[in-house]
Amino acid sequence: MFLVLEGLDGAGTTTQSERLVAALRARGGEVVQTREPTDGPVGLIIRDVLRGDQRAPSVETLPWLFAADRADHLTRKVEPALRRGAYVVSDRYYHSSLAYQSLTLPLEKVAALNDFRSPHITFFLDVPVDECLARITKRGGEREIYEQRDKLERIAAAYDKVLDLVEQRGETVIRIDGTGTPKDVHEAILAAVP
Ligand code: TYD
Repeated sequence: MFLVLEGLDGAGTTTQSERLVAALRARGGEVVQTREPTDGPVGLIIRDVLRGDQRAPSVETLPWLFAADRADHLTRKVEPALRRGAYVVSDRYYHSSLAYQSLTLPLEKVAALNDFRSPHITFFLDVPVDECLARITKRGGEREIYEQRDKLERIAAAYDKVLDLVEQRGETVIRIDGTGTPKDVHEAILAAVP
């Protein structure tokens, strides 16, 4: 079963994917924890772009870089794990591209680049932009290119559209209130995993 966690920067996808993986492992059976951008060769280039590294490719290449990273991710990691019967938990997948990259490229074009297998369940951690920004500030460190109020507001609106779109084509999306304690949010997610 292929499970995906989605949400704005600061929504808690990383914390919750760690907790979900630990809980599923405790049930027994193989669980593969993964994320996008990946730690593979294309993912490393993407992280340079997101940090604003001057030597990295331009921001305009991101829709293709994310799609290439995803193809690599599916081939090397996700598909083999699913064939073994494992649970795969991915921190972000193509919904992130459809939402984030549609800021710079029309949604239909981003969707055309992302004709990949759909997850069994996508959990969307719903957290208001103000709360995401507060968490990003508290976390400290360098900000990536999308971690600004105006961008996050546009990405939040894009996610609304994207989640409706994928539901219309038959995907299962579960919206979770991401403003509770990490434990509350975790329990809400786990309760929905078959
Ligand atoms: P993030 O999960 O925040 O990684 P990290 O915790 O290592 O910073 O993801 C990095 C950023 O990449 C985040 O702002 C979302 C963005 N992103 C896209 O724009 N498109 C995509 O397809 C994916 C997977 C991520």
